[in-house]
Amino acid sequence: MSDTSLPPIIAVDHVFKSVTDSTGTLDILRDIDFRLAPRETVAIVGASGSGKSTLLSIIAGLDTPTRGTVVLGGQDLFALDEDARAALRAQKIGFVFQSFQLMGNLTALENVMLPLELAGQRDARARAADMLLRVGLGQRLGHYPKLLSGGEQQRVALARAFVVQPAVLLADEPTGSLDYATGETIMELMFALNREQGTTLVLVTHDRAIAQRCQRRITIEAGHIANNE
Ligand SMILES: Nc1ncnc2c1ncn2[C@@H]1O[C@H](COP(=O)(O)OP(=O)(O)OP(=O)(O)O)[C@@H](O)[C@H]1O
Ligand SMILES: [Mg+2]
Repeated sequence: MSDTSLPPIIAVDHVFKSVTDSTGTLDILRDIDFRLAPRETVAIVGASGSGKSTLLSIIAGLDTPTRGTVVLGGQDLFALDEDARAALRAQKIGFVFQSFQLMGNLTALENVMLPLELAGQRDARARAADMLLRVGLGQRLGHYPKLLSGGEQQRVALARAFVVQPAVLLADEPTGSLDYATGETIMELMFALNREQGTTLVLVTHDRAIAQRCQRRITIEAGHIANNE
């Protein structure tokens, strides 16, 4: 359950994003404004091209807004310099990209160990192996990403995001390339993180069952919040 009496873990305040090229200016996000309480679960839904991935990247501090602010755990993300922002991200956020973004020169195990090592945590190898076991990849530890199927790569990306036990998990279509049964397992894992560790979940999804399981659904239409309930 979320705790709305606490200060928000994420506050997105009047965020706009525009990009300009030779053909003109494109407004990708327009006045996005919402707050999430610690432990809250929210689905971001909307048509392809509506701005969901852009919004997730801005919440993670991987992309910058043209206007507006994002406050993560009380810190104004874009008031920090890049190093401080990266450190805050490493400390608080697990991110699952729509395109997985695994390191091609590292094995599955090494990919999952990486965030633990960057955070200077002990037992990286054992913890990473355990997490890969939980996503059903215990037999693929030494595989490089190019030898893994799309769904397997997605599960490595999920394990990498989960392994640091982040305060916030941002996931862009986390079950998009998975079969029904594997998708169910991953969904269970995400909601178990939420229950057991209080992880706030922000899930971009086209999957109705996942959206319904979240406490709230934010619908984006052409870069604007059309619905938030
Ligand atoms: N750097 C950029 N330069 C120009 N246009 C961009 C840039 N990034 C995103 N866009 C455009 O902004 C719109 C929103 O993109 P975004 O990836 O956020 O959509 P999405 O809602 O995640 O879509 P999907 O469901 O297909 O993943 C798209 O029309 C995209 O082409
Ligand atoms: Mg997207």
